[in-house]
Amino acid sequence: MRRSLLVMTLVAAVLVLGGSPAFAQASAPPATWSVTDCQGCHEKALGPSFTQTKHATLDQSCAKCHQSIGEHAKAQMAGEKGPVPSLKGMKASQINQTCLSCHEKDNQASYLSSMHARRNVACTSCHSVHAAKSVKAQLKTKNDADTCYTCHKSERAKSMRTSHHPVREGKMGCASCHNPHDGSQPKMIKADSVNELCYKCHTEKRGPFLFEHAPVREDCTTCHEPHGTNHKRLLQNKLPNLCWNCHLTGSGHFGSGDNLSTEKGVPVAPTGAVSGYPTVNSRFVEKSCKNCHVNLHGSNSPSGAFFLR
Ligand code: HEC
Ligand code: HEC
Ligand code: HEC
Ligand code: HEC
Ligand code: HEC
Ligand code: HEC
Ligand code: HEC
Ligand code: HEC
Ligand code: HEC
Ligand code: HEC
Repeated sequence: MRRSLLVMTLVAAVLVLGGSPAFAQASAPPATWSVTDCQGCHEKALGPSFTQTKHATLDQSCAKCHQSIGEHAKAQMAGEKGPVPSLKGMKASQINQTCLSCHEKDNQASYLSSMHARRNVACTSCHSVHAAKSVKAQLKTKNDADTCYTCHKSERAKSMRTSHHPVREGKMGCASCHNPHDGSQPKMIKADSVNELCYKCHTEKRGPFLFEHAPVREDCTTCHEPHGTNHKRLLQNKLPNLCWNCHLTGSGHFGSGDNLSTEKGVPVAPTGAVSGYPTVNSRFVEKSCKNCHVNLHGSNSPSGAFFLR
């Protein structure tokens, strides 16, 4: 039996057995309870941030998520403790089951296999049913990022770095790139691969290109850190160090005193000086690689093999 049915059956049983009381007249309990009966004692939980949500319009709404409320209300009216229908002591898995009894579709369909569910994160770690602060999706904070930052400190630190996606400016959220319910994608990203995710917004990087730069095709995060860095353009490292990770050794361009490859008939770079490097020329000045290799994400020029155009 699905949990919602179970809850409804339990409520029905309570009703048949004499029901919960009308709290104004505890001596003569009526056969049924309604939300107004709870109001006197639970004003705060029944404020606008609950009543304006769809949950408030559910038939027998309180009973959809709280157990034994009829008995609870009856006991409370009689000055006894009775069962306390709190979700606070519940395990994450129990809370998740309660919510999933209705939300088992769409974005939440694979929640139980997500890293969040597996690490005992509950729906109520991010959502508040009675005191939501966000405009949509009933989150615990105004923006999704602030909800996420309560646990993801490292991403928060990165978002404060000089180069970042406009998350802290409020133009994007974590949910622009992640579906925090999704157990079907690695790292819960909203695409079949990291690159597919990036192409959604950076369409010009999709190609196809006549000349592809292998690491670009493979994974944008080889060079970019999407959560923020202190190098411009979200780069993992500054230029030319970033390129040197792969291109320093064994390359004719860098390995000898003459790195200008003049024999290939290409323009000679003006000699600049950055002392301390084995090869001293302007190619090693900050940003230098990008000065000549302007199309390093891929080139469609017939002579773009070196991404120079
Ligand atoms: C006469 C006052 C009274 C009435 C009427 C009443 N309650 Fe309560 N309720 C309380 C008190 C007091 C507590 C705290 C009990 C405790 O923690 O020991 C409580 C606790 C709860 C909790 C758990 C709160 C938590 O901290 O998680 C829920 C849920 C709840 N009530 C729902 C309802 C619903 C639904 C109704 C209406 C059907 C209702 N109550 C009617 C007095 C009342
Ligand atoms: C969709 C599920 C759901 C429904 C419907 C629902 N509640 Fe709750 N209730 C919760 C959850 C989850 C919490 C834990 C706190 C939170 O998430 O806001 C909670 C907490 C409470 C609390 C404790 C409030 C607090 O601030 O700690 C009270 C009281 C309460 N509910 C009463 C009610 C009453 C009365 C109704 C019916 C009018 C109701 N609830 C309907 C899920 C629900
Ligand atoms: C009895 C069915 C039912 C249960 C149980 C239930 N919900 Fe809902 N919920 C709904 C319906 C219906 C809507 C409105 C339609 C929709 O958005 O899917 C809704 C909407 C929502 C929304 C979307 C609000 C928005 O602005 O888009 C959130 C978030 C949500 N519920 C969270 C929860 C959480 C968390 C729980 C468990 C504590 C829960 N629900 C339990 C039926 C339920
Ligand atoms: C890690 C945080 C987190 C957890 C855990 C979480 N949610 Fe959400 N949920 C969100 C965020 C963020 C959004 C808004 C998504 C967006 O803006 O696209 C959302 C949106 C929703 C919506 C609105 C419709 C939609 O899919 O966008 C529903 C319904 C919902 N969540 C239900 C649930 C239920 C049920 C659970 C538990 C099974 C749950 N959520 C667990 C963060 C969370
Ligand atoms: C209650 C704490 C909590 C909150 C709130 C939370 N997370 Fe998580 N999240 C975790 C835990 C625990 C993990 C498991 C890995 C770890 O320890 O970092 C995780 C993992 C992740 C992962 C990596 C998943 C994987 O497959 O490795 C992503 C992505 C993520 N969270 C995104 C989000 C987003 C987006 C939000 C806000 C909408 C959010 N989280 C809110 C606790 C949380
Ligand atoms: C521009 C897209 C984008 C945005 C915005 C974004 N992320 Fe991510 N996130 C990613 C990608 C891509 C990965 C890495 C996936 C991989 O390595 O396979 C990732 C990975 C993660 C991980 C897993 C980290 C790990 O080391 O395993 C967490 C946690 C996470 N993101 C949380 C967040 C939070 C919290 C926010 C909001 C502050 C956020 N992300 C915003 C794209 C994004
Ligand atoms: C949901 C849309 C979206 C997705 C998905 C997305 N981005 Fe962005 N990206 C943006 C926006 C918006 C900006 C800021 C543009 C601006 O400020 O002009 C941006 C800026 C950037 C910048 C330039 C930053 C700067 O300082 O100018 C880089 C690099 C970048 N994104 C890389 C990525 C990578 C890598 C991915 C995939 C992991 C990705 N983006 C996914 C929307 C997105
Ligand atoms: C080999 C390293 C590398 C890889 C891999 C890479 N990029 Fe870049 N990206 C750069 C460099 C270098 C810059 C320019 C920095 C500058 O202008 O100083 C840049 C700049 C950008 C910019 C901002 C300026 C512009 O050209 O629009 C965006 C957006 C961007 N990259 C997206 C992506 C996406 C999407 C992917 C994956 C398809 C990707 N990058 C893969 C190195 C890389
Ligand atoms: C993660 C490793 C990696 C990084 C980082 C990287 N590249 Fe590459 N690059 C490659 C690979 C692999 C090739 C293909 C080599 C081949 O086909 O022989 C390549 C090819 C090239 C080529 C064309 C040369 C050729 O022989 O086809 C140029 C030019 C180039 N990269 C420039 C750069 C620049 C500039 C940077 C820094 C912004 C950079 N690369 C960063 C791995 C990398
Ligand atoms: C002044 C222009 C210029 C600058 C600056 C420059 N390059 Fe080049 N690069 C070229 C030209 C022209 C070629 C074409 C073939 C050649 O000369 O070897 C080339 C070829 C390459 C090749 C492929 C051939 C080889 O030697 O492996 C790689 C890789 C490369 N450059 C990487 C880089 C990196 C990394 C930087 C920054 C440290 C950089 N280049 C700076 C002009 C430049």
